[in-house]
Amino acid sequence: MNFKAMDLIDLRSDTVTRPSEEMKKAIYNAEVGDDVYGDDPSVNYLENKISEMLGKDEAVFMTSGTQSNFSSVLAHCNRGEEIIVGDTYHITGDEAGGVSVLGGVAMNTIPVEKDGSLCPKNIYKAIKPDDPHYSISKLLCLENTSRGKAVSLKKMAASYDLAKKSDLSVHLDGARFFNATTELGCSPKDHASFSDTISICLSKGLGAPAGSLLVLPKDLAKKARRIRKLAGGSLRQSGLLAAAGIYALDNNIERLKDDHARAQNFKNELHQYFGNMSEKRVSADTNMVFFSDISDKFKEIIPFFEKENILLSKWSGNTLRIVFHLDVNDEAVKKLIQVFKKFYEPSVISLN
Ligand SMILES: Cc1ncc(COP(=O)(O)O)c(C=O)c1O
Repeated sequence: MNFKAMDLIDLRSDTVTRPSEEMKKAIYNAEVGDDVYGDDPSVNYLENKISEMLGKDEAVFMTSGTQSNFSSVLAHCNRGEEIIVGDTYHITGDEAGGVSVLGGVAMNTIPVEKDGSLCPKNIYKAIKPDDPHYSISKLLCLENTSRGKAVSLKKMAASYDLAKKSDLSVHLDGARFFNATTELGCSPKDHASFSDTISICLSKGLGAPAGSLLVLPKDLAKKARRIRKLAGGSLRQSGLLAAAGIYALDNNIERLKDDHARAQNFKNELHQYFGNMSEKRVSADTNMVFFSDISDKFKEIIPFFEKENILLSKWSGNTLRIVFHLDVNDEAVKKLIQVFKKFYEPSVISLN
């Protein structure tokens, strides 16, 4: 694609953010060492910082969210064991089946509820008895936020309590952990208290160019580092990336509420414009808006917006996922609304 980055409004994901000038300065000034020797002060600082924020023992800096989830699952589970995981969660469908392909860990999937949670009854039914016919249920994998939805702490606690009663450990794919805490108005420690391990992406709403953090108890840290090595994720002077992560934690958590407010504002504008549009057609949760249109016009929407220098991506069939992030300001939202109106006028569509 040949777009000038400056003019572009890219709403395909919150992964598309570019490091700000201040973040680049932090990268430039980073103190570094060889992290495979444990010598990188920036990486060590970042790992300590996040584990303190979440009230856990340790953290391991990972190259990506996929590697972080993978390392966590394989730190918890041996070959022949299984995870119980939501059928639409990222680990299940969007990580190349890594835990099964490379780790010999089976995935026992259960339906995800409308609010992004897993129903305790379904979790309970999925836990396998100790029988040589079956893989061994070992780990429950949760996700928060899930498709933008912030799962309540009450629901997290219910899953966690059931897991503990059933001798399962709990891993949280918290790629957008801080979007969830922002939405729920809870502390990172409270949110983290319902999982044994938590994976957090720095490269999504937090705006860093790369990196994830796996936060975990002491007894799993050594194994997780071994798995990271095995997956080719042990980097040398990775303090350059850790510096961006430190900057992100210090500066970009508080502002996530602005992304959420812009998503709500955009949803409200669409409602107002289309009048009789029902909730089913547009929903906003945290920083994500899902917009569906069953008319034929939908086919033209992505190329039309592309000509206006706005990138949208199809989520499924007739649905767009529009994601708000730190490179999308109020001006951009205004333009987005204008282009929506331009696209749909004069043929005001019926959305029923
Ligand atoms: C919920 C969730 N988990 C994990 C990941 C994986 O992160 P990465 O792209 O850094 O591998 C993503 C990426 O979009 C995600 O949305």
